[in-house]
Amino acid sequence: MPYGPSTDGSDFNIDNLVTMIKAVSQDRHHLLTQYLRFHIAQLRKTSVDQIPIDRNFQELGIDSLKMMNVVVAIEQDFQFSLHPLDIFDNPTIEALAQYLADEIQSDETASEPVAAQVPAPSIAAWGTKVQTPTQKIPGIVFLLSSPRSGSTLLRVMLAGHSKLFSPPELHLLPFATMRQRHEKMHGTGLDEGLARAFMELHGWDTDTALAHVENLIANDASPQSVYAELQKAAGQRLIVDKSPSYGASLDTLRNAETLFEGSRYIHLIRHPYATIDSIVKRRLDKLVGVHDVNPYVFAEQLWASSNDNIQRFLADIEPERKKVIRFEDLVAAPNTTMESLCSFLGISFEKDLLRPYEGERMTNGLHGQSLSIGDTHFLQHKDIDPALGEVWKKKELWRHLGPAARKTAAQLGYELPGQDNQPDTLGAMTEGRL
Ligand code: A3P
Repeated sequence: MPYGPSTDGSDFNIDNLVTMIKAVSQDRHHLLTQYLRFHIAQLRKTSVDQIPIDRNFQELGIDSLKMMNVVVAIEQDFQFSLHPLDIFDNPTIEALAQYLADEIQSDETASEPVAAQVPAPSIAAWGTKVQTPTQKIPGIVFLLSSPRSGSTLLRVMLAGHSKLFSPPELHLLPFATMRQRHEKMHGTGLDEGLARAFMELHGWDTDTALAHVENLIANDASPQSVYAELQKAAGQRLIVDKSPSYGASLDTLRNAETLFEGSRYIHLIRHPYATIDSIVKRRLDKLVGVHDVNPYVFAEQLWASSNDNIQRFLADIEPERKKVIRFEDLVAAPNTTMESLCSFLGISFEKDLLRPYEGERMTNGLHGQSLSIGDTHFLQHKDIDPALGEVWKKKELWRHLGPAARKTAAQLGYELPGQDNQPDTLGAMTEGRL
């Protein structure tokens, strides 16, 4: 079956093309070019040969919303997570096809990690120590974790409780002002959770909510005032802020105690093998604009330093204001885990906590077809899946964890099969790189 361009698209077999892209590495750039042309042609309701490869997606009439269709297709066909920054950096079919070809190639040939040549920019750099406000505001619930620890699942479970307001990631705590937040996060897509929260609280449409956030940026509002506004709109409900960026910086975490009085902290932990594997698989390094660090090095350090920072921060918090939840317990015994979490939060247990896929829980994105912020694969499951608490037992990391990650794993009580008595081949490389 031919895969080349046609005038009417009739001889274009996309399934064959996908199979060939996976199988043939030499011609992959060309094949991916055809693949992208096919999808853009579908969106424009025209034939493949009408689609130039050197024009900007915007010029082709493909805005970021339409582009989501291509992102979803790539995810389904190649299990490859393309992030907004990838498209921003590669804004034509030609460039994006080359980028995809290189990335798929490097996934296949990954063997030994390569040390970073230059210090990596990262979400740790977002952390800004905020000034002490004239007054603290009432505490909320912070759900702290390394990324890919099952935080979306827990966030959505909590969203089912009548006494809680648990929106997608707010990412407010690292910043001194809304303008600074905008400068650091713009283009990552990670800043959408705040607008989504306003939509839910006020019953606004997307444009109204986005205009409100624009206004907060224009007025350079302080994150504390934004939290206060959310609290007012949430009424009696306690706000849950689950934003996995917070663990990357101790300054960020400490801002919680500077701005709030008596917040409670949930530390969600997950086995490093499963978490590191997920960070790599979902390409989180690219999501936050890190290109010069081996993905495994990045993932290991993100897991270790997030959990380490959270532990250090919580060391100074009174016992009644903090609680550790193991992802493995959450999915194996959700009932018991949520009951103990409710008693920690001082709220009664409600059955809807155990039905994360029922009712409206802010699991869609800002726009109808766009993916929700957080775990973009959350909706591919239909229920709490206990098997995901066991995957770490089957993961064979092809290298050995460095001393920082081993120490953190030991502190969290995670055994590390396959690591004992092994030389630490990469430990030195993973220190201080995040
Ligand atoms: P993977 O999809 O890579 O396995 P986070 O929300 O912190 O980013 O974590 C994402 C992880 O949560 C997923 O990583 C998956 O393991 C787990 N997860 C998502 N939905 C789940 C469900 N319904 N049941 C159990 N685990 C789930």
